[in-house]
Amino acid sequence: MKTITLYPEKEKKDIKGLFGIFFEDINHAADGGLYAELVRNRSFEFDPIDRKDYNALTAWKVSDEAAFKVVTDTPVDPENNPHYLHIKTEKEEVLENEGYNEGICLEEGKEYIFSVFTRGKGSFFAAVAEHGSKEEMYVTDKKEISVDSGDWSRTAISLTSKKTLFSGKLQLIFPKGTDLCMDMISLFPKDTFNERENGLRKDLAETLKDLHPGFMRFPGGCLVHDGNLDKKARDSMYRWINTIGPVEHRPSRRSNWGYNQSLGLGYYEYFLFCEDIGCEPLPVVPGGFNPHKGIGVSLDRLGEFVDETLDLIEFANGDETTKMGKVRAELGHPAAFNLKYIGVGNEEIGDGFFERYPYFHNAIREKYPDIRIINSAGPFAVGEGYDAGWKSAVKYGSDLVDEHYYSSPEWFLANMHHYDDHDPKGPKVFLGEYASCGNSFYNALTEAAYMTHLEKAPAVELACYAPLLCNASYANWKPDLIFFNGHQIVKTPGYYVQKLFMDHCGDKEIAFECEELDEVLALSDEKAISGKITVADNGIKGEISDICFMAGDKKVKIDDILLNNDDKVYTLANNGAEEEYALEFSFKRTLGRRGLKICLGKKENENTCIMWEFGGWDNWDCNIASFVRGRASTISHRIFHVTDEAYRLRGEVKGRRIRTFVNGELMNDTVDRLPELEELYVSASKDAAGDLYLKCVNLTGEDKAVKVAVEGYSGCEALGTLLTGNLSDENTFEKENLVPKNFSKKVENDGFFHVFPAHSITTFKIGGKDHAIY
Ligand code: AHR
Repeated sequence: MKTITLYPEKEKKDIKGLFGIFFEDINHAADGGLYAELVRNRSFEFDPIDRKDYNALTAWKVSDEAAFKVVTDTPVDPENNPHYLHIKTEKEEVLENEGYNEGICLEEGKEYIFSVFTRGKGSFFAAVAEHGSKEEMYVTDKKEISVDSGDWSRTAISLTSKKTLFSGKLQLIFPKGTDLCMDMISLFPKDTFNERENGLRKDLAETLKDLHPGFMRFPGGCLVHDGNLDKKARDSMYRWINTIGPVEHRPSRRSNWGYNQSLGLGYYEYFLFCEDIGCEPLPVVPGGFNPHKGIGVSLDRLGEFVDETLDLIEFANGDETTKMGKVRAELGHPAAFNLKYIGVGNEEIGDGFFERYPYFHNAIREKYPDIRIINSAGPFAVGEGYDAGWKSAVKYGSDLVDEHYYSSPEWFLANMHHYDDHDPKGPKVFLGEYASCGNSFYNALTEAAYMTHLEKAPAVELACYAPLLCNASYANWKPDLIFFNGHQIVKTPGYYVQKLFMDHCGDKEIAFECEELDEVLALSDEKAISGKITVADNGIKGEISDICFMAGDKKVKIDDILLNNDDKVYTLANNGAEEEYALEFSFKRTLGRRGLKICLGKKENENTCIMWEFGGWDNWDCNIASFVRGRASTISHRIFHVTDEAYRLRGEVKGRRIRTFVNGELMNDTVDRLPELEELYVSASKDAAGDLYLKCVNLTGEDKAVKVAVEGYSGCEALGTLLTGNLSDENTFEKENLVPKNFSKKVENDGFFHVFPAHSITTFKIGGKDHAIY
C-alpha cells in the first residue's frame, strides 16, 4: 500500500518564514497599483527621460492650453519637485486627469480625499465625472474650494461617490478671472489598507496580506541597480534616502521599466506595510555597480553608497537618539522596524560588482553584526555570474546568496535536486526570484512540486516568486502572480500555490517516509538533441563562412551566409538520430552590438531547441538556453562581449551534452537534463503548537490512493485544502477557474486514507483547529 509516514518528533531544518513575496514596481505595481493614489502625474513631473512620449501634462487634459501653463519659477521644491501649473483664465476653464487604466475607479458611498497644493487667491470646483460625460454626470459631489495663500499651502476636502464607476476623470473647474498656482493634485481613497494616509490600495494590500508571507523583498530587482550613479539624477539607481519624508519633497524618478515612479510608495511605507502584514522586511540596495550599462561608482566614491546602506539599517533599527532613528520617529514610528536582512545588489554579473561588495559587507558586519547580509548570484541558475556570486559569498562570509531564475516548467521538473549538493554549512540560499514561464495550472503545479524540494533542501533559507503584481494595462513582464486593473484582481493558480505553502509552512520541517511512492517517471526519452541546425543574426550584420557540419564520417560543407540584421533564419543542417555531431564556422560581425543565435535540434512548429546565444542580452553573454515550446531556460552562462574581430566557432553535441568553443577555447559545457515526474511530491512540517502540515503535489494523470500515518495523532482532524483542475486552465478577469477548496478528514488509529487526485495539490493541517479560509 502506498504510505506516507510522518515523524513529528524528528525535526529537521527551521522553515518558519521560508516563503515570502518580492515587490517590485514593475508592470505599474506601485503607481497605478498598490499605491492608492488615483491621479496620474499629480506633480506635473512626468518627463521624456522616464519615457519618450511623456511630458509634464501627460494624463492631463486642459480646455485651453493658453490658460494652463506648466512653469518652474517658484515651485514647492525647486530641486525635487520643480514643475507646477499656473492657471490664468479669461473664461471658465476645465482641467482633467484621466487616472490609470480606463479611468479613475470609485465605489458607491465611499469617501475620497481630494488634496492640492496652491499658491494665490481664488476658488474652483472639484469633482469626479464619468469619462465623456457632461456636468450632470458627476459621480461625486462637486465641491467649491477657496484658497488664499501667498506661499504654497495644502488644502484637502472629502468627496463622496454616488455610484460605482470604473472610468472616472477628476475635474477641476476654474471660473473666469482665476490666477492660481497648483501642484500635487491628488485623489486618494479614504479607505486605504489599515487606514493609513498616503497608504495602499486596500484590496491589493489585503490580497498580499492573505498570502501570509514570511518576508517581503523590496523595492525591486533591476529597478534597484539599473540607473545613473548620481543620486540626484532623474534616472538614478534606486536610492532609498530619496524616498522618505513628505511626498511633495520626494523626487520623481525614471523607472527602468519605462515609466515614471512618483516614489509616493517609499521606504517608510514599505516598512509600515511589512509591519502591518506581519512579515520581515528585506530591502535590497544597489551595490554601486550597474551591470546593465557596465558602469560602477569609483571606489573612492563608494563610501556614499555604503554609508547610505548603514543609514538605512539605522533608519530601520536605531533608537530615537540616533540620527536616522530620529528621522523614523519624526515620520511617526518611534519603535524600530526590527530589520534582520539586507540584500546588496540584484542579479549582478561582472567583477565590477564583486570588487565593490566587500566594502558593503565589511561595513555592515562591523557595525551591525546581527544583520544577515545577502550577496547576489546573477540572473541564472548556473554559470559564470552564479559561480562568481557564490565564490564571493564564501570568501566574505555572506549569510545568504540571492539566486534568480525564470525557466520552463520542464526545467523545474528536471532540476528538483538543484540544491542537494549545496553545503548546508556555507552561505544559505535566498531564492529571490523564480517562476516557470506561464500562468497556467501546469506552471503552478510544477512550482508547487519545486517548493516541496525547497522546503526540504537544507541550504535553502528563503524563497519568493517573481514578479508579484501586474496592472494588466501596463504589463512589462509575464508571468506574474497577481493581475489587476483599477477595480478587479486575478489571483493566478500560482498565487494559490504560494498561499497554500505559506499557510501550511509551520516552523520546523519534519521527517517522513514514503512507501511504494518512489517511482520516478521519465517524461521524455529523447537521448539525442535532434532536429534542424539553424543560424540567425541577433540584431547585427555580418558574414558566416567556411561552414562545416560533421556527424560520424559525414562532413558536409555549407555555403557562406551574409547576415543582414533581418532575423532571417538559415538552416545549416538537419540532424536525424545522430547522438554525436558538430558544427563549425567562421563569423565576423560588420554592424551592430550583439552576435548570433544558433539553434541545435530545432523542432519545427513548436519552438523547441537548444539555443546557443553568442553575444546575447546586451552583448554580455555566451549562453546556452533550452527552449521547450517557446519557454527558455538558461543552462549555461559565460560572460562574453562579441567584438568585430573574426571568430572560429564550434558547437558540439554528444547525447544531451552541449559544448561550445570560441577560437578553439571551451566556452560552454552543459547537459540539457530531461524532465521527469516523481509519483508524489511531498513535504511535511510542524508548528510550535504541535500541528502538522503535509503538502502533496500530484503531477501525474492518475489519482493516488495513500495511507497517511501519523503516530500519536488519533482522534483529531486533518483539515485539507485541494487545488485541482485542467493543466492548461488559467484564472482570468472573466473567470476564476481554479480556486482551492477546503475539506476535512478524521484521523483515527494513527492515520487516515486519502486519494490525491490526478493533477492536484493537497495540503493538510493535522491536529489543528483553525483552518485557513479559501
Ligand atoms: O522580476 C523581474 C525582473 O527579473 C527583475 O527586475 C530582475 O531582477 C530580473 O531580471
